[in-house]
Amino acid sequence: MRKLRVFPDPAALADTAATYIVERAQRAVAARGRFNVALAGGSTPRPTYRCLLHPPWFATIPWSHVHLFWGDERCVPPDHDASNYRMVREVLLESAPIPKANIHRIPGELPPKDAASHYRWELETALGPELRFDLILLGMGVDGHTASLFPGSEALDEEDRTVVAVHAADLDVPERVTLTLPLINAARDVLFLVTGSAKARTLARVWANVPLPAARVQPKDGALQWFVDRDAAARLPQSVLR
Ligand code: 6PG
Repeated sequence: MRKLRVFPDPAALADTAATYIVERAQRAVAARGRFNVALAGGSTPRPTYRCLLHPPWFATIPWSHVHLFWGDERCVPPDHDASNYRMVREVLLESAPIPKANIHRIPGELPPKDAASHYRWELETALGPELRFDLILLGMGVDGHTASLFPGSEALDEEDRTVVAVHAADLDVPERVTLTLPLINAARDVLFLVTGSAKARTLARVWANVPLPAARVQPKDGALQWFVDRDAAARLPQSVLR
């Protein structure tokens, strides 16, 4: 059952998202001794990641038990300005006391299929046989993609592998590595972060169950939250906003 929360602006959304992340981290570490979280790329999550380095969030995260993964990556070197790893390194990793062994980067510098198989091995080894993330953070593109699962991609029909390489021809960086829907939908918690009026039409289509990739994130036995700002929610029906 998906839940929607609408915030007045991106800053209010980021504060609540940071609190949500801290609470999931504390719960996971108390239950299983570690917090396995897959981060979203793009620009929307930056303010949320930044919050985590400041009070009240910084002192309440069990940093040494946090294991960071990425939901997707562009096939570029880690210092490339299109790298999702680089974005998280600049916004979070340079100041967060996470052990280096707990940073599970997608090796975007490798050929796509090699990067996917390497990351698949590392992720499956780290998650163990249950293969469940405690939390997956996701964004949504204006075309309804999420992670690097794009409309019409055959990766959307992947039923077995947890991670695949995709080729999205019309993108500046067409070669990507992404988590697949079976792994995303196995998560204990999935949190979408969506802001801005450019996403309003697409969010309304997702909420109307148009089978866009983002609409196909439906955790089997996990929580699904959509944190959106007022601009992104502008075209949702009033019945949804009550
Ligand atoms: C990526 C992301 C992608 C992103 C959406 C939204 O690699 O770009 O994983 O799925 O979340 O494209 O991006 P913005 O937050 O920049 O709008």
